[in-house]
Amino acid sequence: MSLMIEEPLLKIEHLKKNFPIRGGVFGKKIGGVQAVDDVSFEIQRGETLGLVGESGCGKSTTGRMLLRLLEPSEGKIFFDGKDITNLSKQGLRKIRGQMQMIFQDPYASLNPRHTIERILEEPLIVHGVKDKEARKKKVLQLLETVGLNSYHTNRYPHQFSGGQRQRIGIARALSLNPKLIIADEPVSALDVSIQAQVLNLMKDLQKKFELTYLFIAHDLGVVRHISDRVGVMYLGRLVELANSEELYLNPKHPYTQALLSAVPIADVDYKKERIVLQGDVPSPANPPKGCSFHTRCPLAIEKCSIERPIFKEVEPGHYAACHLHG
Ligand SMILES: Nc1ncnc2c1ncn2[C@@H]1O[C@H](COP(=O)(O)OP(=O)(O)OP(=O)(O)O)[C@@H](O)[C@H]1O
Ligand SMILES: [Mg+2]
Repeated sequence: MSLMIEEPLLKIEHLKKNFPIRGGVFGKKIGGVQAVDDVSFEIQRGETLGLVGESGCGKSTTGRMLLRLLEPSEGKIFFDGKDITNLSKQGLRKIRGQMQMIFQDPYASLNPRHTIERILEEPLIVHGVKDKEARKKKVLQLLETVGLNSYHTNRYPHQFSGGQRQRIGIARALSLNPKLIIADEPVSALDVSIQAQVLNLMKDLQKKFELTYLFIAHDLGVVRHISDRVGVMYLGRLVELANSEELYLNPKHPYTQALLSAVPIADVDYKKERIVLQGDVPSPANPPKGCSFHTRCPLAIEKCSIERPIFKEVEPGHYAACHLHG
């Protein structure tokens, strides 16, 4: 029997995004923000990859580039074995249904003047489901799938609670039977008690529909329970990536250690003193030389301000970019 190595559903290689900073009367480019700086990872079929880091570190930009909602400045994106980096608009339209996004604020992404039926019907119309009865049936099916009632179809987004609205956002994302869902802080705006319900729903749906998730969050506590592996970003770069348990028990990068030390103890097995990071995150328009974390790192040595550490495998399946680890 030959050994089959399954291809990951999504793979990105050396992805970069530079937003130009323009100035002067003629709007000439006077600088740039390196929002994403050489990020590579894979997501296996059926896997959940968590992506965490402080505000502005490039999580959403990465997520949006994966779906080609934003054009990468450099790098490659492979989806389902196909290089989609330069896929035309028409080509993209064909695969759009297979890659969907769930947003932090479902209210902002749902048209307030449309009923739930219309909101859920729209992607079906765009993708050519012409039979009205079939669409209606699908809408009811979607509502049931996310735990909403059929009598909700004629209501408007403002008539729902935050948790219910996120269920509608999820239903809409599911309408075209996607393979990959990018969830950008899907529970950050919800009450803690509701967060668990939505996370459980996402887990159930993953099993039921064999979904693959990229789950973006600030909070390491939230991603832990849903992620198989977790990647940590700092200033546009991936600084650590490991199996979720491994990352929580044995974090290698001082930045990950600091993030973990801020998570309530009951949620983390890594019981260390609280590490309070000094200073603010530097501007991505002018990142520090060497390791971009060295200006705030409690363990920095001289080399860290000079040489940028390579992102490498420090233990099997555990990657980190830190001079303290080789
Ligand atoms: N359209 C844009 N034009 C210019 N700069 C941008 C644009 N979008 C994002 N940025 C900058 O790129 C960097 C990364 O932003 P991004 O939104 O990806 O971060 P994030 O990790 O998702 O943050 P948050 O946790 O706050 O959502 C930030 O410095 C941001 O100001
Ligand atoms: Mg974001």
